[in-house]
Amino acid sequence: MKGIETFKNLEELDNESKYLVHKAKEAAHHAYAPYSKFHVGAALMLDDGTVITGSNQENASYPLCMCAERVALYAMASLHQGKRITKMAVVAHKKNHKELVAAASCGACRQVMAEFEERQHTPYEVIMHHTDSQWIKCASASLLLPFMFTSESLND
Ligand code: THU
Repeated sequence: MKGIETFKNLEELDNESKYLVHKAKEAAHHAYAPYSKFHVGAALMLDDGTVITGSNQENASYPLCMCAERVALYAMASLHQGKRITKMAVVAHKKNHKELVAAASCGACRQVMAEFEERQHTPYEVIMHHTDSQWIKCASASLLLPFMFTSESLND
């Protein structure tokens, strides 16, 4: 698909992407996931080289659980106004397992990820660990959500 590349091996990715994946893996250690036991880490590279990370944060009231991607994005927007995201990496593993499992961002996160591109008027790359040891690199977050809902619908 146009704008989406797949890689069999992390080593095939550029150094910055590998570094961001490493930061996402570190972030997954801070997940609070006693219910799903599914630990997700997300890392954002900003245009000044700052890295912002997030991990999933669960709650006994299940619908209140927050995905790693949105934790990272909202932290970035709150703490680093005026900066732009250039790249995002997302990984996941099960509790007490080092091997990564598929970390395909959920639909809600894709909606938020795409609107962040609108906010900054620039696309950013998304790297996700997919099934069968496949890595996916998208040139733009909005590619992950065709026909997305946008603020245009809310205009007068
Ligand atoms: N989760 C994420 O952090 N990101 C996603 O895109 C999918 C799901 C989290 C939410 C919940 O804590 C756990 O994974 C199981 O759904």
